[in-house]
Amino acid sequence: MKIGIINAGNVGGRLARAWVAAGHDVMLSKDGDDAKLRPLVDELGGKVAVGNLRDAALYGDIVLFSVYWPRLDAVLGEIGDALDGKTVIETMNPLGVTEDFVHYHDTEFMRDNSTAEQLQARLPKSQVVKSFSTLPAPILEASAWSGQDEPMSVFYAGGNEAAKAATRTLISAAGFRPVNAGPIGAARQLEQIGVLLHHVAHAEFNGDEDLIRIGFALKEANPGPVIRPRVA
Ligand SMILES: NC(=O)c1ccc[n+]([C@@H]2O[C@H](COP(=O)([O-])OP(=O)(O)OC[C@H]3O[C@@H](n4cnc5c(N)ncnc54)[C@H](OP(=O)(O)O)[C@@H]3O)[C@@H](O)[C@H]2O)c1
Repeated sequence: MKIGIINAGNVGGRLARAWVAAGHDVMLSKDGDDAKLRPLVDELGGKVAVGNLRDAALYGDIVLFSVYWPRLDAVLGEIGDALDGKTVIETMNPLGVTEDFVHYHDTEFMRDNSTAEQLQARLPKSQVVKSFSTLPAPILEASAWSGQDEPMSVFYAGGNEAAKAATRTLISAAGFRPVNAGPIGAARQLEQIGVLLHHVAHAEFNGDEDLIRIGFALKEANPGPVIRPRVA
């Protein structure tokens, strides 16, 4: 598959590395300082192409859209119509930023909205799928989960079945277990998992510094027979 990476940052850079290793054709781009791409480009050698945000959008049959949420308008302005007709996998969390540049989950926004639904509304000719947003970037690589008996869950949600099938393939290619979370509205719950993990990091672990050790996974049990039938 040809994959355009719109912003090869913490998340996009790791997925780019995994997809190149799996044999996909990848073009990297960076929102902000292009020079920050240099270490990854050097590491991947001739195996990746590099372009600007619009180049990466035009290149990909599938495009990873992994930008800092407050940059949405500016990034869409640079990309223009280049995502029309494409599958767009978006990883964003709805972060707000204070005047002092402190980031926080925008829980007001999250009450009845999601970044995925917003992006789909802004890109009506694209097929947006939410994914890769529930694992902190340092553990968004299969090697971080070596020693586990099954791959870590990566959830996805969206409104177009073909786009979701392609996303499922790329989740597997990156070394994870794809878990279909349903329609694009389920992105709201997926984004809320980020808030939940912060609570867990503080209540059960040592706070935010332990956030990068925590993942949210689907497990299947083997329940016994139902012994109390439902009474009408
Ligand atoms: N990092 C994670 O653990 C994680 C996990 C799940 C989902 N996500 C989401 O995935 C998307 C991409 O995340 P990422 O970590 O890979 O992002 P990133 O590439 O490291 O940063 C995103 C972009 O925003 C810019 N930026 C970062 N902080 C900024 C600030 N305070 N003011 C202005 N610009 C700023 C960066 O510029 P520079 O590179 O030039 O600084 C970069 O171009 C985001 O929506 C994020 O919420 C992240």
